[in-house]
Amino acid sequence: MSRVDQLFEAAKAARARAYAPYSNFKVGAALLTKGGKLITGCNVENAAFPEGVCAEGGAISAMILAGETEIAEALVIGDAALCTPCGGCRQKLKEFAGPDVVVHVADLNEVKRSFTVAELLPAGFELNEKD
Ligand code: THU
Repeated sequence: MSRVDQLFEAAKAARARAYAPYSNFKVGAALLTKGGKLITGCNVENAAFPEGVCAEGGAISAMILAGETEIAEALVIGDAALCTPCGGCRQKLKEFAGPDVVVHVADLNEVKRSFTVAELLPAGFELNEKD
């Protein structure tokens, strides 16, 4: 299986575990780390809507817990024309992925488009002090 297929299947399996009774929109995310680990996450909603977490955020938390801090490639899957990461998740991805890291966006059948982190979040925030 190709690397992208592995990411796709892992994200799809994670999506099946999503807890999304309010939006009925299940999302899965898979991260391949620089250390070679395949880490997944799903969205977990809450009756107090803003308390829900996105699939990407869940995967990033799991990645940190697994002792990895660098994303090599990522894939997000949702049953939409283009389930791109939300604005907040773009910033979360940027924290652990360089500008050239590829984020694939898939529907339930296939990857629809692939973006670099820099394309998803141009001029993203970095906590640098002004000299
Ligand atoms: N959602 C994600 O988990 N990731 C995305 O990339 C887009 C949106 C979730 C948040 C919420 O649980 C549901 O999808 C509908 O917005």
